[in-house]
Amino acid sequence: MLDLHSHVLPGLDDGAPDLEQALAMCRLALDDGVRLMAATPHWYPARDPLAISEISQEVLALRSELAAAGLPLELVAGAEVALDPELPRLAREGLLPTLNGGPYLLVECPPHTSPRLLPDLIYGLRLAGLRPILAHVERTWAGAQNWDWLTGLVEQGCLVQVTASSLTGKLGSAPKKAAEALLSLGLVNLLASDAHSASWRPPGLSQAAAAAERLCGAGAAEVLTRLTPQAVLAGEEPPPAPRPAPRRGLFFWRK
Ligand SMILES: [Fe+2]
Repeated sequence: MLDLHSHVLPGLDDGAPDLEQALAMCRLALDDGVRLMAATPHWYPARDPLAISEISQEVLALRSELAAAGLPLELVAGAEVALDPELPRLAREGLLPTLNGGPYLLVECPPHTSPRLLPDLIYGLRLAGLRPILAHVERTWAGAQNWDWLTGLVEQGCLVQVTASSLTGKLGSAPKKAAEALLSLGLVNLLASDAHSASWRPPGLSQAAAAAERLCGAGAAEVLTRLTPQAVLAGEEPPPAPRPAPRRGLFFWRK
């Protein structure tokens, strides 16, 4: 499996505080069957963001530590970029930290973000050649009753990422219900851990992948945790989002 959202780089944000914790997170990921993680530290356009070169250097440093510790986890660079009116301009100027340097950008929408803000910004990013991936939609809009607006953004080329621990219920009932609703509507492209430490929202996708298979049937986990992340890292078109098979009708014999 490939996990495209994590805060594993030590000391850069509210994720791993030090190298020891970062390596503990990597061990957990490997034990769970994750073979690649994208390191996606928070990146705030309006608050003196990290230099892209600094993220790359930290990824190289952690790769060296992984090799020294004999841990065969692959790491790629990215960032979790906060929604900001400046994003389209930064995208046009090539200044955004995309996933693996390709066309996909992990975008964080803070809690209580109005969906009405999204279409113009998404349109601007698409015009600049980027494919936004909306991070943890099920947490930002956990109380949503209607997802028609998200369908519109998906039609514009957005991808949707759901947090593994939302789907397993570890973050409470509202994110779980929202995650299940999104999967049922065929609106989820990726599962990711958004891991911050070895204990709080730890790495690992297998339990959520199993939950997705229970909802959407065999093959869903493969799409959500391997095929789509691979396409993202390669800058290719992702496979269709999984959706549940239509229910077969009930037939009653009449005499
Ligand atoms: Fe995150």
